[in-house]
Order: sequence, then structure tokens, then C-alpha cells
Amino acid sequence: MPTLFDPIDLGAIHAPNRILMAPLTRARATREAVPTPIMAEYYAQRAGAGLIISEATGISREGLGWPYAPGLWTDEQVAAWKPVTDAVHKAGGRIVAQLWHMGRQVHSSVTGMQPVSSSATRTEGQAHTFEGKQDFETARPLELSEIPRLLDDYERATRNALAAGFDGVQIHAANGYLIDEFLRDGANHREDEYGGSPENRIRLLREIAERVISVAGKERVGVRLSPNGASQGVDDSDPASVFVPAARMLSDLGIAFLELREIGPDGTYGRTDVPKLSPQIREVFQGPLILNSDFDSRAKAQAALDSGVADGIAFGRTFLANPDLPERLRIDAPLNQSDMATWYSQGPEGYIDYPTLDEQSRAA
Ligand SMILES: Cc1cc2nc3c(=O)[nH]c(=O)nc-3n(C[C@H](O)[C@H](O)[C@H](O)COP(=O)(O)O)c2cc1C
Repeated sequence: MPTLFDPIDLGAIHAPNRILMAPLTRARATREAVPTPIMAEYYAQRAGAGLIISEATGISREGLGWPYAPGLWTDEQVAAWKPVTDAVHKAGGRIVAQLWHMGRQVHSSVTGMQPVSSSATRTEGQAHTFEGKQDFETARPLELSEIPRLLDDYERATRNALAAGFDGVQIHAANGYLIDEFLRDGANHREDEYGGSPENRIRLLREIAERVISVAGKERVGVRLSPNGASQGVDDSDPASVFVPAARMLSDLGIAFLELREIGPDGTYGRTDVPKLSPQIREVFQGPLILNSDFDSRAKAQAALDSGVADGIAFGRTFLANPDLPERLRIDAPLNQSDMATWYSQGPEGYIDYPTLDEQSRAA
């Protein structure tokens, strides 16, 4: 069985190790969703990852409701991403852009329009807005006639990602956002060809993946799914019935990698008792399978590789707090803990100031 430190080809992307950086929203862009120079420093610090998956990045104004998160729909955003991808490459790393449409989880005070989703539903709780948290609003169902425009938005974002120097893209189909709102029957109540049977609910993901692949090539396209348990209010009555065929469909398309965010009963950031689907997905997905959630030690991550269920591990909070995570895992060094208070705060604090081991030993 491979170790975490063995290389792996994720489609056309040659990763020198199997330690991926999971996508992490950090809200350090401008109000207009334009990346800022500290983002180049932050990602370059983490270039030791086999592959960096960027923070979720809006494909359109309609799809991005998170204050100060970045986008990929304007020329200004593309130009400002370029120094970020350049800095990662110069530091020896690789980075793909996570393409994000938040569906019903946006607020009109940020996007200037009513949220869209598969159906007229509303998330419980409150949305992040520039004016603090506000109650989520009821979404309007996407019209059939709007789907071509949505696919065009994904195409434009993919072209822009490549123009900005990203090594590829990851389609964000997890965590209760738009694509997940089509996949799961707890949010999708449509009666047309995008609702009802699992095959119909998978249709939007397939069409988006095909469109993105038509631009970037299958070897540069990954997908993220969150197949077990409710995710930000989106759930399914029979997760295996939709996620196993979705994974088979993605396998048939030949994507570069599939990443599963699978929380468990011991999750420290979300918990569920719903059994993990990764063993079933492993059987139908032929490409590299990456697992995420709560791998906060070398032993836990290596055990997942040893069991044969995963080809690589994506680390979220541990990468956030440890810019030199691969080196720390290699020598099994202690890990910094991430500070929730600065997850989404603007500015450099809690962003580019987590120390490396070297910096810690020099300070001691
Ligand atoms: C601050 C923060 C921001 C996150 N942003 C994203 C995101 O932009 N896209 C995404 O798919 N998941 C996002 N997640 C989920 C993480 O990618 C990951 O699934 C989660 O942190 C569990 O993994 P971990 O136990 O390794 O931290 C975020 C999590 C945190 C803590």
C-alpha cells in the first residue's frame, strides 16, 4: 500500500505526495470578490501539498453570496488570481480552483437577486452577509430555460481558471450548495427531467461536468461530493441510491479525481451517524479517490490508505493551521490548532501567520 509520501497522478496533475489541501473559504478577497496579495502568500506557504484545492470560488454573481470570498467571472478577478497561482508554482506547488455556485445559501443583500435552487425551498438558519448574519430567503426554482445559461457560467469560470494559471478545477458538488440541492431529494422536489429519480437528480452534475471537461479536459477536472448525512440542511432519504450512481457516472467521464467529504460520528466539525459511502463508491469509481474530514494525524490518514479505501487524504483545518503540514506529518511533529475566530476574518491575522516548525524552533 502507498504511503502519504508517495507520488500520485491525479489525471494530468502529478502530485509528489498524497497530502492534499482541502478547499477552505477564508474571506480575504475584496468586496467585489477580487483576490488580494496576501492570498498569494497564504497559498505559497502551503505549496508543499501534493495538490492545493482552492477556497470555493464563485462562478457568477448569482452563485456567490459569501462576503469577501473570491470569484472567477470578471477579468479583474482573473488578473488578480494570476499572482496567486504564480506564487504557488514558484514555490513548487500545484493548485486547482474550486468552482462554486451556492444555490439557495446566498442572501440577496450580497448578490442583488433572489437565490436560485432546484426547488422553492429555504435553508434553516442564517446566511453570512456584509451586514452580519441574516435569515436565509426562499429560493426560486431554476427554470429549465436557465440551465444552458448556468452551464455557460461554469464554462466561463473554467476558461477563466485556466487563464488565471490554475492547473485545473474542482467542481464543488458538496455541502448543500446548488449541485447538492439537485442531487438530494430533501431539497429537490422537481417534477421535470432534473428531479425525481436518482438519474434525473444526477443530470445537472453530469451536464456541468461534461461542460467543464469540454473546456479543461477530463484530466484536469475533479469533483467534490458530501455523500453521508445532512449538509447545511440538505439531505437524502437514501444516499446510496444517488451517490453511488453519481460516482459511477463520474468514473465513466474519466475525471482526474473524486474527493469525498465524509464526516463521521466523531466529527469535530459536524457529526453524523449515517454510514460512510466511501467503500461502495470505491467499488464503482475507477480513478483516484481522495477522502476528507477529521484526518488530524499521520496515523489516521495512513490507516485510510492502508485499508485500501483511499488513494489520498485532503486536510482542511490542519492545513489551515500548519503551512508545512507535509513536513510535520513526515516527522510526526506536533500540529498547530486552527483558531475559529479568524477563519473568515479579513486581513493577515490567523491567515499568513501560522508558524512553520522552523519558525517555531527559531522562536524557542
Ligand atoms: C474555515 C473553513 C472553510 C471551509 N471552506 C470550504 C470551501 O470553501 N469549500 C468546501 O468544499 N469545503 C469547505 N470547508 C470544509 C473543509 O474543506 C473540510 O471538509 C472540513 O474542514 C473537514 O475537514 P478537516 O477535518 O480536515 O478540517 C471549510 C471548512 C472550514 C473549517
